Amino acid sequence: MISIEDYLEDIVGKAMRGKGLSLDKLSDLSNVSKDSITELLEGECNESAISSIAPHLDLHTASLIRAGKKSWRPEAVILEGVSIYNTPWNDMNVNSFLVWDPSSVSAAVFDTGTNCEELINEVQNRNLIIESIFLTHTHGDHIADLPKLVANFPDAKLYTSSKEPVEGANLINCGHQFEIGILKGTAFLTHGHSVGGLTYFIKGLDRPIAIVGDALFAGSMGGGMVSYEDALRTNRQHIFSLPDDTVVCPGHGPMTSIKEEKQMNPFYPEYKN
Ligand SMILES: [Fe+2]
Repeated sequence: MISIEDYLEDIVGKAMRGKGLSLDKLSDLSNVSKDSITELLEGECNESAISSIAPHLDLHTASLIRAGKKSWRPEAVILEGVSIYNTPWNDMNVNSFLVWDPSSVSAAVFDTGTNCEELINEVQNRNLIIESIFLTHTHGDHIADLPKLVANFPDAKLYTSSKEPVEGANLINCGHQFEIGILKGTAFLTHGHSVGGLTYFIKGLDRPIAIVGDALFAGSMGGGMVSYEDALRTNRQHIFSLPDDTVVCPGHGPMTSIKEEKQMNPFYPEYKN
């Protein structure tokens, strides 16, 4: 089972950095001691302190407490036409995805993870033809095994965001449309975590899927390494606007759904009941 990527300490840290709130400033605003905030940043689930700081970080209080208690994980997803690969990267793991049209041999790969061996084996076992390789973004963990993937599928076309070029890749922009057999896909620019991060929304399987890279995690998000505001805004614009039953395929942690993220993700309080 793939572990949840972010809990209380990660979420509070990302929100503080994103909003430019120092320990001193957040303590002043919330009347919570710096020691108590430091304990939250170490993962201690102090519900009173969480309730006091959450509004100043624009985080949803009950969802943040849930993250502190580690009491939620999304429903397991089993969907014909999608496989997830979870490979180690330093002290964390990174995901890559194989997507295929169950009615034909057409398939595509999304990111490489740090070792694409298992993915390559499944392509061979299923007798699939990899027509395309799509990159969500070019942070090292997501493209670590790109040379091996390209060498194994020399006829596949490689696609990346025009804002994150890679040698030998076709550059694409927001709105780019593509096909995997009878599956229809559209790329959306969900930048903010990276300068040109793309989300790939694909219809034609039993449920729609969105391969989001690090734009969104189950119960969290990759964080605004380039722009926190843009990361929040582009997620709202292009990911939370997708159908509720869309399966979210993130770059780290388990698969989730738009419906569950609306209910459970502390970064998006406006969707809560
Ligand atoms: Fe990333």
